[in-house]
Amino acid sequence: MAERFYITTPIYYPNGEPHLGHLYTTLCADTVARYMRLTGREVFFLTGTDEHGVKMVKSAAEEGITPDQLADRNARVFQDTFQRWNITNDDFIRTTQPRHKTAVAEIVRRLVASGDIYLGTYEGWYDEGQEEFVTESNAKAQDYRSAISGRPLTRYSEATYFFRLSRYVPRVIEHIERNPEFVQPESRRNEVLSKLRMGVDDLSISRPSLKWGIPMPNDPGHVLYVWIDALSNYVTALGMPPGDGRGYWPASLHLIGKEILWFHAVYWPAMLLALGWELPRRLFAHGWWTAEGKKMSKSMGNFIDIARLDRYAQVYSQDAVRYYLLRAAPFGSDLDFAEADFVKAFNELADLPGNALNRVIRMLGTYEGARVPEIDPTALHDLDRQLLTQADALPGALERAYGQLELQAAATLPMELARAVNGYIEATAPFKMKDPAMHGRRRTVLAVAARAIASVFVGLLPVTPAKAADGLGQLGISVGPRGQLADLLERARSLGGSVLRAPVPLFPKPQPQP
Ligand code: MSP
Repeated sequence: MAERFYITTPIYYPNGEPHLGHLYTTLCADTVARYMRLTGREVFFLTGTDEHGVKMVKSAAEEGITPDQLADRNARVFQDTFQRWNITNDDFIRTTQPRHKTAVAEIVRRLVASGDIYLGTYEGWYDEGQEEFVTESNAKAQDYRSAISGRPLTRYSEATYFFRLSRYVPRVIEHIERNPEFVQPESRRNEVLSKLRMGVDDLSISRPSLKWGIPMPNDPGHVLYVWIDALSNYVTALGMPPGDGRGYWPASLHLIGKEILWFHAVYWPAMLLALGWELPRRLFAHGWWTAEGKKMSKSMGNFIDIARLDRYAQVYSQDAVRYYLLRAAPFGSDLDFAEADFVKAFNELADLPGNALNRVIRMLGTYEGARVPEIDPTALHDLDRQLLTQADALPGALERAYGQLELQAAATLPMELARAVNGYIEATAPFKMKDPAMHGRRRTVLAVAARAIASVFVGLLPVTPAKAADGLGQLGISVGPRGQLADLLERARSLGGSVLRAPVPLFPKPQPQP
């Protein structure tokens, strides 16, 4: 039976429209999902929107609409954006859907029954003008005054339900310690562990004052407050109990941004332990984007929104944006969106795989009637063998990179092979082999180059899916929706006789603006 691979993104707040950060996580997940499908895994890729909570209520009020109107409108924008960006998610969960709400109520019922949810008193600070709860640390930083009006914060206390988080902390610590893969990257894992060892309180999970959310099934006057509702999406999307249906639980990978690692590494495993369900195999927290070295902010006007990325896509292609975002930094580190670097990344695509393909196809058109010659293994020179060896090593290197979630390497490994193809063409110079005595040699060189460049595009399929399929198409290899890496590489290896399409530059350089 094929290995199952269940990958998720965070579910995003639809209180605003998606931006670079949201697209980035989803794109990374999409790239991994594509690779896993390509290598024969049975993939389930989930994304969605987190539609309850105070943020939604506030943003809706500012626009003079209801939270569900806001959620409907922006959830659609998220879905359209992901579709337009060629994201291959298998499902899109919205926390306002009945399938989610019913399953969450069932989860809460079980936690109440097991004594893991109890009624207590929540004490804290409240900004009356803003109608907003303020955390202890923020209250202290603001000298216990409103950040907006400067008026003193009020102390309030109210009855809320708590999740007995503290009961599970020792087991969560143990699990993180015993399973180095569970929380990654390593440095963030250490941060989580040291914070956990300092002790953790039980978690307040309901608000009597909030109306927009899932009511506590045992006490409908209370509404569930964010994290229990949100985290549950990873199982509610599969149906209950998880694993019952299609066998995708436990998740193989929850991909998230670094700012929500704590909730995923602590609350979520504790909830699952309380429910007696298996823990996800792996959490990976990636870094945050800045723009041209500065924090992105709407007021600074340096916010990278989707409209901006769409404009880049129009000029340079969507796949160039995908490649740039993946290669911008080692996966897990913070990243900086810089236009000059983006153009550089585009030029890499144009100059390496784009140029190599174009040269090989043009020469094969001129010299070989647009047909790839067979390779005679006895005629191979060292240089040829070197390039073929490098091409044959690509799948193994990719499997390692994707396995380790080194997504930057996953994007650049095929590019290195493309660079080698260009170097090989320079070194062998088939374009100089005019003498008929050299034609046999020229045939071998072009056949070897064609095979290697085909491997480049197979390797690029998860990263630049449309362009890679186009490149393979020009080489006479068609990629079906269920195309498999092994078959495609086999096609690349036995490319002899393949009929080439007319060369069309994959990454035409945009004309400079007048
Ligand atoms: N709804 C919660 C998550 C619940 S998951 C059970 C949430 N939503 S969010 O809309 O704020 O999205 C947060 C996610 O968006 C981050 O974890 C990250 O994946 C992505 N990003 C948002 N801004 C980002 C950057 N500036 N840079 C990189 N990714 C960021 O939190």
